[in-house]
Amino acid sequence: MLRIGFIGSGGRAVREMLDLVQIPEVAIAALCDISEERIDQALAQLQSRTSARLSPAKFTDYRSMLDGVELDAVYVSLPPFAHGAVEHAVIDARRALFVEKPLAADMGVAREIDAHIKDTGIINAVGYQWRYAEPFTRARDALRQVPIGLVIAIRLGPLPPAAWWRRQAQSGGMLVEQHTHSVDIMRFIAGDVASVYAAAGLRLLTDVPDLDIDDVSAASVTFESGAVGSIVNSCAVAGAQMPNVSNYVHIVARDLVVAVSAGQLSLFRPGSDREDWRPERENSNFLLNQAFVEAVQTNSMAGIRSPYSDSLKTHAITIGAVQSAREGRVIALAELLV
Ligand SMILES: NC(=O)c1ccc[n+]([C@@H]2O[C@H](COP(=O)([O-])OP(=O)(O)OC[C@H]3O[C@@H](n4cnc5c(N)ncnc54)[C@H](O)[C@@H]3O)[C@@H](O)[C@H]2O)c1
Repeated sequence: MLRIGFIGSGGRAVREMLDLVQIPEVAIAALCDISEERIDQALAQLQSRTSARLSPAKFTDYRSMLDGVELDAVYVSLPPFAHGAVEHAVIDARRALFVEKPLAADMGVAREIDAHIKDTGIINAVGYQWRYAEPFTRARDALRQVPIGLVIAIRLGPLPPAAWWRRQAQSGGMLVEQHTHSVDIMRFIAGDVASVYAAAGLRLLTDVPDLDIDDVSAASVTFESGAVGSIVNSCAVAGAQMPNVSNYVHIVARDLVVAVSAGQLSLFRPGSDREDWRPERENSNFLLNQAFVEAVQTNSMAGIRSPYSDSLKTHAITIGAVQSAREGRVIALAELLV
């Protein structure tokens, strides 16, 4: 049996556990949260949605959990500002490490964790589940041998409710916290980015109390291949009748245009009928969790598509965009990754 613990027992932890309880070789052995109430809420939500019987040990301090329970792997499911010491403790304890995106609210904390992971060679993964979604893998395969010219990533949606999400110092802002998914898909399909230049502002949600993040942002990127890209986001688009566009990516390549989201892949070729493909079901999150469990069981990173070291490059693009908008200059990602 693979014994898993969670540090942070909020909404995302529940989502992951709903997948993990479907894997017979996994036991949810321990839950930690600074709030005991959140642990009990998480367990109540789980028990209402699964017939699996759960009786994890409960902790309000992650060090006590790491010292007190034999674990094979730990999920770190914390708000961006809370990363750092927690991961270092898990790595020091030589447990396999799963970290939810984003890696942190800034770059330095994530770089130090990456270095520590490299020093120890522990099994690791980051929660970029869309890398396991078939529309995106099919898009990447269709473009493998084709020169890419332009990549456009769009995300338009509402403001999430969590108070920490609305504070720049706590979440890192909209692009770092949530829209990092679209940025990661861009990289997954079109390769690494060399530089970013962005404009951003708080233009629309000015009447929302205690909010200091940008609610609109537009970033231009240059890929290492020479392709160019555009990342366009707003978290000020709310309401049932309003567009809710997430992880929607267009790629303009030689004699091929690809439009892809988690729900559909469309290929356009000059002189040919448009090809549309839809997955029968969307189970990318389960596939991510399954890949992590297998990696821990086999002590091999072969099936992990989102290792920490690679996710750091996605994180650098979003952090670079925020910095570029603030400083009004092009940011070479090499500045952030050294
Ligand atoms: N991949 C995805 O699609 C996806 C979806 C949702 C959330 N997420 C990510 O998951 C992370 C968590 O999000 P969430 O929605 O669960 O947030 P949340 O606010 O619901 O839960 C976070 C929990 O962490 C706890 N916490 C804070 N500091 C702690 C510490 N030092 N030790 C133990 N517990 C601590 C809080 O009390 C809270 O219960 C975020 O980074 C978010 O971006 C990813």
